[in-house]
Amino acid sequence: MEETWFPPRERVEDERPHGWKYAQRVSRQEQTGLADEFAPILPGPGASDYERYLRTDELLSLQKTPDERAHHDELLFQTVHQSSELWLKLAGEEMEVATEHLHAGEIASALRLLRRAVLCFRIVTQSLDMLELMSPWEYTSDIRPVLGHGSGFDSPSWNRVRHAAPELGEAFHALRRASGLSLADVYVQGREREDLYQLAEVLTELDEWTTTWRVRHYLVVERSIGGEVVGTQGTPVELLGKLIERKLWPELWKLRTELTNLAKEND
Ligand code: HEM
Repeated sequence: MEETWFPPRERVEDERPHGWKYAQRVSRQEQTGLADEFAPILPGPGASDYERYLRTDELLSLQKTPDERAHHDELLFQTVHQSSELWLKLAGEEMEVATEHLHAGEIASALRLLRRAVLCFRIVTQSLDMLELMSPWEYTSDIRPVLGHGSGFDSPSWNRVRHAAPELGEAFHALRRASGLSLADVYVQGREREDLYQLAEVLTELDEWTTTWRVRHYLVVERSIGGEVVGTQGTPVELLGKLIERKLWPELWKLRTELTNLAKEND
């Protein structure tokens, strides 16, 4: 196919904060020879509906320009943090809406959203790999000083997830209690109560991934700034290691011990 469907683009200087943009040199009409019936129809800034809908002008100006950066790697650092905020925002929202579904007794609809929340955590966990491509010396000497008192403890989206968790767990327990089942019953009778069993397992999966994120994050921190120092808000890094033991729903983990003991009793 001819390249005309992919208009040649050039990098041009731009007065906007992020310094440059890609300009389309040839109009769509000239490229395709077709009437421009797909011209943008959405309101807002941007040359195309893609840019208008996604608000790419604003989005791409949320990172420091090369001139504003203390170190080139600030773009990497901001990209990982900003995208993590978005994925965790989605995870938190899906958890909240899943809770509403459970209040209405709609387990299947809740499962759909909770699977997404799990995937959000897998994505943010994987994106931590990128931070290990920064030099620890350059991070600590050039980037850390420009973070002020910025700390992950103040991450709005992480805190949204943490705050959504208790009510979500409670909504699950309310449903199982309404069926007259203990937590162990949900597992022992898992084949008869497939819906409650699946729900308990997706919650466990979500809990496992928040812990996996914490483990990875702890290792990234130790690899970047060391394990015997304090964070930007004075928190000893060791304390982060202790947070790994915190579960969203500890009862879902204690249950496994109960099941093992129950199986032994039945032997
Ligand atoms: C080089 C990369 C990173 C370093 C050196 C780092 C460092 C730290 C440190 C030292 C703490 C303890 C609190 C403090 O004193 O600030 C912390 C907590 C935290 N950070 Fe990071 N962090 C990094 C990347 C990230 C990323 C990409 C996220 C993504 C959202 C993140 C989110 C958090 C959260 C949510 C906490 C609270 C932890 C918890 O409740 O378990 N951090 N981080």
